[in-house]
Amino acid sequence: DRRIRVALLGHGTVGAEVARLLDEQAGELAARVGAPLELAGIAVRRPDKHPDLPRHLVTADAAGLVDSDVDVVVELIGGIEPVRGWLLSALQKGKSVVTANKALLAEHSAELAEAADAAGADLYFEAAVAGAIPLLRPLRESLAGDRITRVMGIVNGTTNYILSAMDATGAGYAETLDEASRLGYAEADPTADVDGYDAASKAAILASLAFHTRVTAADVHREGIAGVSASDIVAAKVLGRTVKLLAICERVTDADGGESVSARVHPVMIPRGHQLAGVNGAFNAVYVEADAAGELMFYGQGAGGAPTASAVLGDLVAVARNRVLGGRGPRESAHAALPIRSMGQT
Ligand code: NDP
Ligand code: HSE
Repeated sequence: DRRIRVALLGHGTVGAEVARLLDEQAGELAARVGAPLELAGIAVRRPDKHPDLPRHLVTADAAGLVDSDVDVVVELIGGIEPVRGWLLSALQKGKSVVTANKALLAEHSAELAEAADAAGADLYFEAAVAGAIPLLRPLRESLAGDRITRVMGIVNGTTNYILSAMDATGAGYAETLDEASRLGYAEADPTADVDGYDAASKAAILASLAFHTRVTAADVHREGIAGVSASDIVAAKVLGRTVKLLAICERVTDADGGESVSARVHPVMIPRGHQLAGVNGAFNAVYVEADAAGELMFYGQGAGGAPTASAVLGDLVAVARNRVLGGRGPRESAHAALPIRSMGQT
């Protein structure tokens, strides 16, 4: 008669889709997990803004909900504080955490992973990078026996949506950004997208997982698309190219034979024949290169409520199954200390 009690923090673009799918697919999810998933509560900032939600589930007290009798905390609020404290406290008490919060992970993944490992809890975050695309699970698990040398691609849907529209129709930057916000692609503060902070956070997460080290957003060289003008797009076209914002994470061999990691985010002029040039709208695409596997490409919807909810629910099923069966996801705190190469270093 076991149930997995789930605290949902946030009922915005992603949280609302997660709640909808949890309800619509309750029977199928229970069968896959081996126990029903029971929504114990939904924390929002302004309960009055959510009149359609069952009153007994809605609360403005996220800390209280996390602290209540729940097995899993699904965090879809965003930002660093106060969320960091809530998730740390959940993990320390052995509760599993699923989050899409790349800004938090890019700063505090070491602290959160250590708390998870110490308590034998799961910390899953597939939705934090590249929306619906299964990318982190392959890096953490499928490729764990290989030696990854490079991870490179388009990891921000909002900027790709803007650049694609500027390229296709000559649309203006501001109107396209408004549309990306309306469609639920942009961050609450869209400067995180256009100035490259969001992509830098994702690059830090990708580099940490791919190279088994700790890279934070501050280690990533960052340049956004605010400086890309309509005339830059036209100039790129004349040269048979298009502009994309890329995240590039590499394992670098130094002159003395030692290894380090480099991570950077900046706009790149890509030849129109390149596969990345055909990735448009809020889609993302990421190449992974590994010694034995060779080149792999991951492609799909990188932002938006439903695509992101798909990744969140996949994580929720995994951590709930682990609780039912007594298993654990991959350990994160066991990292090597590969040095980080700052830009400009030779
Ligand atoms: P939204 O801004 O749409 O939703 C945020 C939700 O959090 C709202 O329901 C809000 O309540 C609630 N909230 C904010 N502050 C508090 C608080 N102090 N206590 C309780 N609830 C609070 O965000 P998104 O759904 O777009 O994003 C959520 C997370 O997912 C972020 O970390 C984001 O980076 C990440 N993400 C988003 C993607 C996307 O495409 N949108 C894709 C991948 C990841 P209220 O409704 O009352 O305002
Ligand atoms: N704002 C983010 C983007 C959401 O546009 O890619 C998905 O992480």
